[in-house]
Amino acid sequence: MRVLFTGGSGKAGRHVVAYLAAAGHRVLNIDRVPLRHPGVMDLMADITDQGQMFSVMSGYAAGDELDAGQGQRVFDAVVHFAAIPSLMLASDTETWRVNVMGTYNVLEAAVKMGVRKIVIASSETTYGVCFSDGLTDPAYLPLDEDYPINPMDSYGLSKKVNEVTAAGFQRRSGADIYALRIGNVMEPSDYARFPDFARDPGSRRRITFSYVDARDLGQIVDLCLRKDGLGFQVFNACNDTNSVPQPNDELLRRFFPNVPLKRPVGPNESLLSNAKIREVLGFSERHNWRDELPRV
Ligand SMILES: NC(=O)c1ccc[n+]([C@@H]2O[C@H](COP(=O)([O-])OP(=O)(O)OC[C@H]3O[C@@H](n4cnc5c(N)ncnc54)[C@H](O)[C@@H]3O)[C@@H](O)[C@H]2O)c1
Repeated sequence: MRVLFTGGSGKAGRHVVAYLAAAGHRVLNIDRVPLRHPGVMDLMADITDQGQMFSVMSGYAAGDELDAGQGQRVFDAVVHFAAIPSLMLASDTETWRVNVMGTYNVLEAAVKMGVRKIVIASSETTYGVCFSDGLTDPAYLPLDEDYPINPMDSYGLSKKVNEVTAAGFQRRSGADIYALRIGNVMEPSDYARFPDFARDPGSRRRITFSYVDARDLGQIVDLCLRKDGLGFQVFNACNDTNSVPQPNDELLRRFFPNVPLKRPVGPNESLLSNAKIREVLGFSERHNWRDELPRV
């Protein structure tokens, strides 16, 4: 597929772009800084500028498309990752402006230019536990896509609003738009931190102990590109197990003693549920942290 990818130079994006390119997609990276991945063209543009988003949406994906002389072609898919990716990286107002306006601009341009598959990066922080003021209990665990999300911070709120906007554009256009509630992203170098997580599992409470391997996130995005006809969907995007070795019995007793379980969970099963991506998309994790710890 010809895929326009925003934010491909970032922590998650560079692994997802590499995965998509290796899977045979032709990827155009839209970012403010170049990725320089072989076979992937970088185009510098700002998602908060609506005109630029309309312009790139009908552009070339690579130099050889000039030779083909087919003029402007609609992209087969748009994957939108560009954002301010956390609370406390910018002012709350700037986080809101970039994430909400940027996503509106990408969605509007994509839909109006005729793109029929769009995947956007939402976040586990929409569940309202991660960036809450004070420690918050979720209404239930494991967190699934049916949960009534209720963040109180500018970043989580921006992602919740983006899901609402995406659902509206889906209704209006009939295009498939899938929002990924991405867990805490781990690159290979991040696995050196996991022994610390094991020593202090409480440090992972706000993200209900979850994680997603950046390369497995690539698989999830690729599966979204290949799965048509689902309309608007929300998918949790995380690996199969928690990021700490303590079993759920212990974690729930120590950190969530008053939170009911919606269903039984396996001993180490991720408390951010990934059942939906496994059942609907056929996700099968390749990079469990236990196999990725740096060898000493
Ligand atoms: N990293 C995580 O743990 C995590 C967890 C959940 C969700 N997410 C979401 O996943 C996506 C990617 O996150 P990441 O960790 O790779 O972030 P990142 O900051 O590493 O990458 C974001 C990329 O977007 C680009 N960008 C930012 N503002 C832009 C603008 N105005 N115009 C064009 N490009 C712009 C940046 O240059 C950067 O390359 C984000 O939407 C983030 O909210 C990340």
